[in-house]
Amino acid sequence: MALLDDIEPLKQAALADLQRAPDLAALEQSRSGYLGGAGKFTALLKQLGTLPKEERPAAGKLINAAKVELESALAARRTELELQAALPKEPNDFTLPGRRRRLGRVHPLTQVTDDIVRSFRKLGFAVADGPEVEDEYHCFDALNTPADHPARDTHDTFYLAAGDATAANPAPAGPRFLLRTHTSSVQIRVMRKQPPPVRILVPGRAFRRDNADATHNPTFQQIEGLYVDKGVTVTDLKGTVEFVFKELLGKETRIRFRPHYFSYTEPSFEIDFSSPLTRKMGKEWLEIAGCGMVHPQVFENVGYDPEVWTGWAFGFGIERIAMIRYGINDIRLFYENDVRFLHQF
Ligand code: DAH
Repeated sequence: MALLDDIEPLKQAALADLQRAPDLAALEQSRSGYLGGAGKFTALLKQLGTLPKEERPAAGKLINAAKVELESALAARRTELELQAALPKEPNDFTLPGRRRRLGRVHPLTQVTDDIVRSFRKLGFAVADGPEVEDEYHCFDALNTPADHPARDTHDTFYLAAGDATAANPAPAGPRFLLRTHTSSVQIRVMRKQPPPVRILVPGRAFRRDNADATHNPTFQQIEGLYVDKGVTVTDLKGTVEFVFKELLGKETRIRFRPHYFSYTEPSFEIDFSSPLTRKMGKEWLEIAGCGMVHPQVFENVGYDPEVWTGWAFGFGIERIAMIRYGINDIRLFYENDVRFLHQF
């Protein structure tokens, strides 16, 4: 009778084991421990032969019924564990503090650009835009920059070549394209599209074949300004530049104009400024921009009457201003996208 008495407790123990199995591997282990070839139920079945003949059918039935019950408990537990395994493992401690998402910042070059734009907006300037891939006409010819000007040299300029051009099969005739060497090309695009007066500001990227070092980078940012109206003079230019730089670099900022040459302005100047910032860099005056009165030939080229209209233009280098403003000594830092650097501004 010992055999019959063993069945129920064994079944209960097995059911409890299945419920406790923490994962599928443990479940499989306890399945084979009870129902496998060497399992405890299998062992019971094997002992059936030791029972008196008349007791065997009843005992066999009991054992089989217990096995069926176990199988179905096993299947249910397996489904449960499979579902659990499919769930994401973490987080299971909801009291842990959340993961902080680090907020980005406005890039220092963008900050400087935004500040300059903000100052000029107060004076009624609007932002204009033009293509970075430009043709020679807008970048040079219309700006009175002759074909033999060094700025047009292939050593200075990224020209776009027809990829499949060969000596035998040359590129089709037509305008040559290039990555604009300055934002001044947008002066031409705007003036050809609209009649004067004009008051625009053009922030944007420019490209030159410079090797990267602490003060040069083949890609850099400029901000171009153009003001055309009746009776515009150098006085307006100087007053405007002074107002903007005082806003940008501090009240103590002074500026001076030095005569220079640009083919699209006459007269032309380079702008120097002096402030506690320049003195911190060991200099009284630092060169910061180019400017001048728009050359009459440029007005002719865009269909403006130079007898009626006068104007001035300038080009600032954003990197240089940002380097002075924030005390940065290597231009390449702006382009490395290192958050440890970018986070400081
Ligand atoms: N385009 C010049 C440069 O890239 C800067 C410049 C000088 C722009 C004089 C102007 C200007 O509009 O009048 O160096």
